[in-house]
Amino acid sequence: MPVLGLGTWRMGESGRRRGDELDALKYGLDIGYPMIDTAEMYGEGVAEEIVGEAIKGRAKRPHIVSKVYPHNATRAGTVAACERSLKRLGIERIDLYLLHWRGGARLQETFEAFHRLREQGKIGDFGVSNFDRGDMEEAAHLDKGLTGSNQVLYCLSRRGPEFDLLPLMRKKSIPLMAYSPLDQGRLLTKPALKKLAGDAGCTPAQLALAWVMAQPGVVTIPKSSTRERVQENFGALDVKLTPEIAAELDRAFPPPKGKQSLEML
Ligand SMILES: NC(=O)c1ccc[n+]([C@@H]2O[C@H](COP(=O)([O-])OP(=O)(O)OC[C@H]3O[C@@H](n4cnc5c(N)ncnc54)[C@H](OP(=O)(O)O)[C@@H]3O)[C@@H](O)[C@H]2O)c1
Repeated sequence: MPVLGLGTWRMGESGRRRGDELDALKYGLDIGYPMIDTAEMYGEGVAEEIVGEAIKGRAKRPHIVSKVYPHNATRAGTVAACERSLKRLGIERIDLYLLHWRGGARLQETFEAFHRLREQGKIGDFGVSNFDRGDMEEAAHLDKGLTGSNQVLYCLSRRGPEFDLLPLMRKKSIPLMAYSPLDQGRLLTKPALKKLAGDAGCTPAQLALAWVMAQPGVVTIPKSSTRERVQENFGALDVKLTPEIAAELDRAFPPPKGKQSLEML
């Protein structure tokens, strides 16, 4: 599982922005992002079409993650939704296919459909999203083959998953895919982050992303529709998070002292 990918939420919602969104994704792939995260929900399928356009004709295509809506996640509905996504993406296999959030169909049915899709070669692996500790325990108990990922809200300013979800996922070797790693941009105005980024010789976004990627078993998928920010965010891979800066970040953004319910955007 690549440690860094491109997010696509809010893409495909406006015809006016489509050109910039496509350009940002293509540029991201050109500079080496190895993964793109999307979903049938994003732009009601249009984000997947933009991703399809961005990856078309590339010698090496990135790892593609997509998600099924809970209301489509029945045994037959999951298969049909995946086939629609494959068509929009213009590919034969989604590398990682996730249940976007819990609800709608019985989990057992969704997992049966995921297995069927994997046997047919239409997906490489499967996982879930927005599952808190209890849901994750249930899912892992239901399906011992659940190894793909659990994609959840996790960033410096929202560290709740560290208390009991992340330890469980590490024990089961299931990667946590951190969404909204910049807290949708809100994190970047925090004075403590700005100061520490200055000390570390990088930008606030790079430090926030470097911190997420430094957490064992965690990968992340920041979204940007501009080349400059796509490039800036990629630079997070080069940031050296020293123990001193990590300790300062812990002081400014303390880890949870108790259970916090999983937040969802
Ligand atoms: N599974 C789920 O339920 C779920 C929920 C939310 C998100 N996700 C996934 O996770 C991805 C990332 O989360 P997100 O999009 O919510 O939030 P995010 O990546 O934390 O932040 C995106 C926002 O920050 C801005 N931004 C990006 N890089 C920046 C930089 N270097 N400097 C300043 N601003 C910057 C972007 O604006 P510009 O585009 O204008 O640059 C955008 O408004 C999504 O796109 C989606 O693929 C999944």
